[in-house]
Amino acid sequence: MITPQTIEEIKGRIKIDEVVGEFVKLKRRGANLMGNCPFHHEKTPSFTVSPAKELYKCFGCGKSGNAITFVMEHEKLAYPDALRWLANFYKIEIQETQISDAQKQQIATTDSLFIINSFAQKFFSDRLHNHPDGQAIALSYLHQRGFNDATISKFQLGYNPTLRNELANQLIANQFNKDLLPRTGLVVLRNENEWVDNYRGRIIFPIHNHSGKIIGFGARVIGKADKAPKYINTPENELYVKSKVLYGSYFARQAIDKADECLLVEGYTDVISLSQAGVENVVASGGTSLTTDQLRLIKKYTNHLTIIYDGDSAGVKAALRGLDMALEEGLDVKLVLIPDNEDPDSYVNKVGADAFRTFINRNKKDFILFKLEILLKETGNDIGKKNELVNQIAESLSRINKAEDFTKQQAYIKQCAALLKIDEGGLITLVNKYKRDKLTKEEKKGNQHLSNTFVSDGPPPMATPEDFGEPVEHSDTEGLLTNQDDKYEKNILRILLEYGINPWGEQLTIAEFVFAELEGFHFDNPQLEQLLVTYKQAYQAGEQPTTKTFLYHEDDAIRQLVINITLFPYELSQRWNTLEEGKTNVIKDTSIEDVSQSINYYKLRKLKKMLDDNQKEMENAPMEEQLTLIRIHKELKDMERALTAVFGTVILK
Ligand code: GTP
Ligand code: MN
Repeated sequence: MITPQTIEEIKGRIKIDEVVGEFVKLKRRGANLMGNCPFHHEKTPSFTVSPAKELYKCFGCGKSGNAITFVMEHEKLAYPDALRWLANFYKIEIQETQISDAQKQQIATTDSLFIINSFAQKFFSDRLHNHPDGQAIALSYLHQRGFNDATISKFQLGYNPTLRNELANQLIANQFNKDLLPRTGLVVLRNENEWVDNYRGRIIFPIHNHSGKIIGFGARVIGKADKAPKYINTPENELYVKSKVLYGSYFARQAIDKADECLLVEGYTDVISLSQAGVENVVASGGTSLTTDQLRLIKKYTNHLTIIYDGDSAGVKAALRGLDMALEEGLDVKLVLIPDNEDPDSYVNKVGADAFRTFINRNKKDFILFKLEILLKETGNDIGKKNELVNQIAESLSRINKAEDFTKQQAYIKQCAALLKIDEGGLITLVNKYKRDKLTKEEKKGNQHLSNTFVSDGPPPMATPEDFGEPVEHSDTEGLLTNQDDKYEKNILRILLEYGINPWGEQLTIAEFVFAELEGFHFDNPQLEQLLVTYKQAYQAGEQPTTKTFLYHEDDAIRQLVINITLFPYELSQRWNTLEEGKTNVIKDTSIEDVSQSINYYKLRKLKKMLDDNQKEMENAPMEEQLTLIRIHKELKDMERALTAVFGTVILK
């Protein structure tokens, strides 16, 4: 891992205008610099760099950040790799912290695999161009399929000769680690001591990771595959993890950024042909159903995924299955089928790039509607099957849960209801039911997690060196009210645990004040509610409860919960640290404001949620109940207004 000192040195040296200037032509405008945004297509500059604030922001697409995030985004690098990039840019020597033997071993393994792969790629390229069979058979096959020399060299295509062990001999002669060789899949050990080439007589497609290093190969027979499998791929190893491979991503990333769309096809040759035709924002899944990992990778580049499969592809159904997860991730997925038994490769060769693009844009369909149409065809008039289908679609739709996707969800519901010929209100109710089910399940899971927070998960899973030190992404925008409610509930509990026994004005303690304020409210999170009740009982029994007394509580779940809550990052806990040093045990005046503010926040949250629930009920309730619901709505609104008046204006996140 890079030492904190090195990181500080890098941060100290960074000049954002220099870093951005490496990729974007910038012009000075007063204190700032402006240029064309590298993250979206634009003709007039709206990309602004502020050297003083060390920030950039695009007023067109909204992307913003600092020099490090710029390198991460632009070069699609993980955090430590962005630091390495910057260190190299500023010629800063990187100091690494000690790493464990296991980590060293793993880094050594991945490094060696990279080196072997790179060696093999050069061998294959050389044989394609310089070996008699390479030229006569392999290269001419590639030419005949329409790949030109520039394309062949860009994708580093190669050829493995038919002789039994040409590559193997080279690998052995160069003294590569014999323990590692079998894991590369390039060669196999036969009869104890004979190394044999695995991809004999095949065209080689190197597979690159996002930074252009070779993680594996696809090896295709030349011509028709009658006896042998058409392709052989690298076996799973430290570098080649099938579920995470997106063929072509290294070559496509800039184009995906520009187009803000990623095209996904099945085969290597589809990627290569499209790229040659100028449709460069394209990657391949490699003929299996899409995985969650692949979708996450795509989401790093863009929110718009267009899947292009052949019409009769067995892959279509498999792909559809994996796609519900895309909805959760807020990924916008469209689908196009290529007609007439063509695949993207043959189709673009047949009709040309422009017609291909037009075809895709005219025919891409939202995947939910696509799925519905396919499934509808299958159900026919069978009521039972249709019922199942309605449930299935509602379940899919319930996965759209990001606040910003709400409108999209509504639109989908409308269209699906129409296609299914069912009542829209009914579908809404069903979608909401699935949503509630899921929330309940998640809550249960979340609670389990809560009590396991301090149990180690064991050694981390295998990682490549680039994975070390990557910052964990926290998603705070889930729009799930419960999670947010938790925050305020936990906060009140922390105040109680930390300051509850301290005086509040002349007459009361803080705990008594909080009890009075919370009269009639119940926490939504049952565990937190239980902790509140337990605290209250202890307090009323005169036990003077504090964090410390609770840390020795007999109930393990309560102990864990208390640890979890008091470590929750919030400004109050910092103050607690100073209290810990034993200087003072009296809560400061500002914290008294914190107490009532926290309670007000909590109440406001709660009101918002009640308003929300009420709103939902109004949408589905029969006429005769509407009046009552409206009255409740009015009352809640009044309370909300009264509370917000206390705050002035409040922006709830
Ligand atoms: P061409 O036939 O040369 O156009 O190749 P293609 O890439 O179009 O192949 P196809 O559409 O048949 O398959 C799509 C992808 O599935 C390929 O690129 C491979 O990644 C994978 N694939 C196809 N056949 C095999 C096979 O026999 N074994 C393995 N492991 N993968 C295969
Ligand atoms: Mn093909």
